[in-house]
Amino acid sequence: MPVPADTAPVADKVCSGRVLVVGGAGFIGHFVAVASLLAGRPTYVLARSASVTKAKVKALQDNGAIIVQGDINDKECMEKTLKELRIETVISAVGGEAVMDKIPLVQAIKATSSIKRFMPSEFGHDVDRAEPVEPGKNMYIQKRKVRRLIEDSGVPYTYILCNSIASWPYCDNNHHSEVLPPTDKVHIYGDGSVKAYFVAGSDIGKFTIKALDDPRTLNKSVHFRPQSNYFCLNELASLWESKIGRVLPRVTVSEEHLLALAAENRIPESVVASFTHDIFIKGCQINFRIEGPDEMEVGDLYPEERFITLNQCFDEFYARLLKGKQVGVEGGEADEVIIAAPVEA
Ligand SMILES: NC(=O)c1ccc[n+]([C@@H]2O[C@H](COP(=O)([O-])OP(=O)(O)OC[C@H]3O[C@@H](n4cnc5c(N)ncnc54)[C@H](OP(=O)(O)O)[C@@H]3O)[C@@H](O)[C@H]2O)c1
Repeated sequence: MPVPADTAPVADKVCSGRVLVVGGAGFIGHFVAVASLLAGRPTYVLARSASVTKAKVKALQDNGAIIVQGDINDKECMEKTLKELRIETVISAVGGEAVMDKIPLVQAIKATSSIKRFMPSEFGHDVDRAEPVEPGKNMYIQKRKVRRLIEDSGVPYTYILCNSIASWPYCDNNHHSEVLPPTDKVHIYGDGSVKAYFVAGSDIGKFTIKALDDPRTLNKSVHFRPQSNYFCLNELASLWESKIGRVLPRVTVSEEHLLALAAENRIPESVVASFTHDIFIKGCQINFRIEGPDEMEVGDLYPEERFITLNQCFDEFYARLLKGKQVGVEGGEADEVIIAAPVEA
């Protein structure tokens, strides 16, 4: 996703509050790195050697990010990097398969006493509450282990629980917002009545950065529940139909079908199927209240801030459909239209 042109390089101008984003070339990490730059923070992006030449990394660099080559599996190197660059906050957005790689990173952060906040690669549901079926469950077990390590280490942390990214929630794609909503038919999971929260990628980045050194979020979980983006699938389908001006056939995908997709154990598709089941059949985003002493809702923290609405996101999807471009909400465009082939029910 290109960084807006008015994002002047900032890393040279500001001397404190240095942020290291791990995984800035990735799906969620890029939104976070862009938001950090937009907030005027000195932004360092850790990329593995094979990734430093990626277009997304280049775009961040062109807009003021300092690219640091490294791998979070290398504890000694990470510790040296954090100390030498005088990093104060670390945000990790490594992908699902690399969840346990965060353990050496946590150890390096613990050894660097100047780190004021660590946000591990969460960016989804409350993994201590949700119980998806396998193989999603295994990812949550790994994420829970990382949480306990962070808490036991005394590393100051914040968990970002942003729920779903604003997009059509395909059950076989972990980067939904890179794909336009369907134009031939819509797949409805179960009866389509279970609600979820959908958050634009740029808002995931923006509120992550706002929470980063907010004293109120220290050692807390921050849940994203924007009321404007609280939709069930039936409503989401109607919203999209109102944009494209026609009614699409609705195909029911049963709970059993989602479970069968999950049981195939294809990674990452089956992980996504297990989360889809958890969200749209079991209601994992909405079946609890945010009331614990260590959790808060982002709208309560920043009541003056508006979320990008799903309506706005779907306007943009439609504009991109008309332009014949692949979607990349809030900025990204690929060269060709790819309408994801939905799984057959
Ligand atoms: N809420 C949602 O809708 C949603 C959607 C998707 C993901 N998520 C969550 O967001 C988090 C990030 O997932 P993602 O899909 O954005 O990941 P992703 O696109 O796969 O990107 C992961 C990034 O981490 C980097 N990385 C992986 N291993 C690394 C290592 N050992 N050292 C340094 N960098 C490493 C990768 O670098 P390379 O470029 O070198 O491979 C890549 O840039 C996960 O916790 C996931 O569960 C949430």
